Amino acid sequence: MNSRRNFIKKTAIASAGISMISGSALGAMTTANDPKLRLAFIGVGLRGTNHLQNSLLRKDIEVTAICDIDPKRIKIALQKIEDAGLKKPKVFGDSEYDYRNLLELDEVDAVIIATPWLWHTKMAVDSMKAGKYTGLEVSAANTLEECWDLVNTHETTGSHLMILENVNYRRDVLAVLNMVKQNVFGELVHFRCGYQHDLRKVKFNNGLQPYGGGVEFGEKALSEAKWRTNHSVLRNGDVYPTHGVGPIATLCDINRGNRFISLTSNATKAIGLHNYIVKNGGKEHQNSKIKFKQGDVITTTIETAKGETIIVTHDCNLPRPYSLGFRVQGANGLWEVDGNRIYIEGKSKPHKWDTADEWLKKYDHPLWKKHGQYATGSGHGGMDFFVLNAFVESAKQNIAPPLDAYDAAAWSAITPLSEASIENNGAPQDFPDFTRGLWIKRKPYNWNKNTY
Ligand SMILES: NC(=O)c1ccc[n+]([C@@H]2O[C@H](COP(=O)([O-])OP(=O)(O)OC[C@H]3O[C@@H](n4cnc5c(N)ncnc54)[C@H](O)[C@@H]3O)[C@@H](O)[C@H]2O)c1
Repeated sequence: MNSRRNFIKKTAIASAGISMISGSALGAMTTANDPKLRLAFIGVGLRGTNHLQNSLLRKDIEVTAICDIDPKRIKIALQKIEDAGLKKPKVFGDSEYDYRNLLELDEVDAVIIATPWLWHTKMAVDSMKAGKYTGLEVSAANTLEECWDLVNTHETTGSHLMILENVNYRRDVLAVLNMVKQNVFGELVHFRCGYQHDLRKVKFNNGLQPYGGGVEFGEKALSEAKWRTNHSVLRNGDVYPTHGVGPIATLCDINRGNRFISLTSNATKAIGLHNYIVKNGGKEHQNSKIKFKQGDVITTTIETAKGETIIVTHDCNLPRPYSLGFRVQGANGLWEVDGNRIYIEGKSKPHKWDTADEWLKKYDHPLWKKHGQYATGSGHGGMDFFVLNAFVESAKQNIAPPLDAYDAAAWSAITPLSEASIENNGAPQDFPDFTRGLWIKRKPYNWNKNTY
């Protein structure tokens, strides 16, 4: 803890002198003189490696330790670090709990956790208890108890947790946030969002093709097919709500003047994954006998304390193009991402859509104006740069992150609550108030003032 305090002190002194080198590469925004965040990674699969790659481009990060139980992933990560000409980090992963040895290292200030969902809360809780500034991939938790564990551990240890929801940093999402803050849509009324992504090749990834292929999952498969698909076998609920609901929660100030009150969820039948197996593996394949529990399209309606509704869709098992399906609607008009259109009463021609482009350009968020050039090539259209940048800048100062433990808990609670609602024919389920009443006086995060 001592060295952590010294680090923070050094950071405060040095932060006045941050300078920039021009250039479009992500790394150009930091210099060797910047105070370094000593960062460790738990889980260097596909996502952890994305974060690692982006971290290696920053001169204000020293990767001091990595952990993964798959030696192949460790090898890839070490190669990337060596190729970047950087010092070899300490390596962990001899057992599933070896990450706890990593957490004991004094030379680790902050940790990024990018492991399968069932490990998230356990690892984040251990990390916060070890005094590390913790970044956790989405979703953060699987049960209400785990949601509380995140909040309680943050409160008792004082360690910060940031949920690494990159979609909150998407350029159109931040432009719309800017429009909301400038009251362009008027008083907010209704939202739609979701995760609508054909994941069939991800869920059955034997590595037969660059992006999956085959019909196996579990031990015989690679990456997310190893663990994610089993959630579709065993759980009927929205298991991945945060890409959609994270941005919407920020737009309507959830946990900061507003909160989720209750939800209802309904699921369709489950045919998508079965059909995919039959089509690609044949009727006789043993996996064609599996009864998938997760409905192909799961629709959740959330009510907020301020009287808005949010429709959240989980749609990952059927053929379809990708869309997060955003709609933001207020007293004066609305944005719909599908169709790329905006209508604002008194500004748009009556009853006619404007293409969203001009509006989004006009309200381009200060964050994108400032960092857009550095974000190029960072992954997922640039938003991976922003989420890492917010994490690193918050961790360097050891201050509350923009997306915190309360956000992680409230957004992730949709999973168990949707399961309970579906199980009970769509019966309403109440959200716990993870802020214990503080949502009433917590102020919205100032996205325009803060520069990360
Ligand atoms: N924000 C995004 O855009 C985005 C994109 C992809 C994935 N994700 C999330 O990132 C997380 C990881 O997904 P992924 O695609 O990288 O999966 P992955 O399976 O490729 O990687 C997970 C890694 O964790 C390792 N692991 C498992 N148990 C471990 C343990 N006990 N100790 C150490 N390492 C362990 C595995 O060996 C694997 O390398 C998931 O939560 C996923 O939902 C987010």
